[in-house]
Amino acid sequence: MITSQNPTYTKNWLKLHKHYQSISVKSLKGLFDQNPDREQEFGFSLENLKVHFANNKIDQETIKLWQGLAEEMELSDAIEQLFQGEKINHTEERAVLHTALRSFENQGIKVDGLSVFPEVMAVRKKIKAFSGSVINGDWKGYTGKKITDVVNIGIGGSDLGPKMVVEALAHYQNHLKVHFISNIDGDALSLTLEKLNPETTLFIVVSKTFTTIETLTNANTCRTWFLENADKKSIAKHFVAVSANKKAVSEFGIQPDNIFPMWDWVGGRFSLWSSVGLSIALAVGYEKFEQLLKGAEAADKHFRHSPFSKNIPFMMAMLSVWHINFFGVVAEAVIPYYESLNELAAFLQQLFMESNGKSVDRGGNKVDYATGSVIFGATGTNAQHSFMQHIHQGTFIVPIDFIGFEKPYGNNKKQHVILMANFKAQAEALKTGKPASAVHLDMKFNGDNEKIEKLLPYKIFEGSRPSTSFIFNKLSVYNLGMLLALYEHKVFVQGVIWNINSFDQFGVELGKEIAKTLMSKR
Ligand code: F6P
Repeated sequence: MITSQNPTYTKNWLKLHKHYQSISVKSLKGLFDQNPDREQEFGFSLENLKVHFANNKIDQETIKLWQGLAEEMELSDAIEQLFQGEKINHTEERAVLHTALRSFENQGIKVDGLSVFPEVMAVRKKIKAFSGSVINGDWKGYTGKKITDVVNIGIGGSDLGPKMVVEALAHYQNHLKVHFISNIDGDALSLTLEKLNPETTLFIVVSKTFTTIETLTNANTCRTWFLENADKKSIAKHFVAVSANKKAVSEFGIQPDNIFPMWDWVGGRFSLWSSVGLSIALAVGYEKFEQLLKGAEAADKHFRHSPFSKNIPFMMAMLSVWHINFFGVVAEAVIPYYESLNELAAFLQQLFMESNGKSVDRGGNKVDYATGSVIFGATGTNAQHSFMQHIHQGTFIVPIDFIGFEKPYGNNKKQHVILMANFKAQAEALKTGKPASAVHLDMKFNGDNEKIEKLLPYKIFEGSRPSTSFIFNKLSVYNLGMLLALYEHKVFVQGVIWNINSFDQFGVELGKEIAKTLMSKR
């Protein structure tokens, strides 16, 4: 069990309040002028990743106080409990072992007396064999044709993770076309089915509980569509399931051999590393799926073993706590400068908002401090032409994570130079802003003298707006795994500091119950 205590009663929380009062009035530019080594001092690295925290209102004192707070909240102990499979999801009495899914070492972890590693390895082997046979064409449809299209039917964590990764790795994909059906929207489903041939389509029904109405209804419709052309026996060649509920899968009519298991110690939003990632293995091949796991494993080792002074997820999480609980931030944005990461914000939205959108602490008490923010985002430079106006000149502060890559995948260097110039320009503009004097000078230089009086206030950028830059050498499969795992650990650290359970999601139940009642009245 992770110890329950109110973070706002700790000594370091109080000290952070005082520290906030002195640092919040300083400008970011002032902090850089004061300390020429700032960029280096707040630059962290992990293999091919560099993270720049310098464009946030922090100094060495801030980090010292964060460490003090983490100590008081017993974060190191909580991290060990996570990795060792303690039942830290105390409301559901479950372990939280997404880290075991990407571990390549048998650490002897057991849950309820059962060793986790052999089970994980067996499922990996099954994913490898199955994805291999579908990709190379050994797995044939009911008329003897090879599979050309894969449809992932799932929602929430059974959709967002695999969909985001498959899209992110578009350049690494093989010939299989992978589609995603999530919403309970018959029109959307029809649009997908219209494109498909039942003889060459493989459906993966992904639902940990196998009770989710959206997924089961869509899966049933797909089965009916399939059976318009084929007989029941053929289902075995075209429907597989990913689930922890084998009984319900069998009742649906999917053969036991076609079930890819998962376990109750994997949360939906943390599950893309499990057989929920089957569509990823199909899209890019098992070897690349393993690279994704290995990137995540590298982030896990970094998180578990690095001192907090060098620990990237620790910094990411504490910075967010700093912004939310001391600066009063209510929204944070993620902007990857890479079009194929278009789904990243939606994935992170569930990861953060379902995990930490809680208002009762680990001791069952109502909290009186904020535990999260609204997460949103879009790719750069598209975001610059939509919401960045607000981030630069709006009335509330939105800290940004900029994610960029030194090299593109292909040869379009010209575009990439412009893309990365914009990436750097946004962070710089947010940091330094543009004071009245500079606006005045500019307008004069451009011969706009008569408009100065009228327009000057509108053209001022206050600056001192926070951002963090993540720069990888390139978007490799491994790097993507690392990035996602870093964010998962950020969620965990925040949850420990806020004294909440990040791993249940009772908040999604009430709406489901009411919808059921409404349906029964029709
Ligand atoms: O929205 C609630 C939720 O339980 C998510 O946590 C989960 O990712 C999603 O529904 C799908 O659940 P399942 O995989 O059981 O269908």
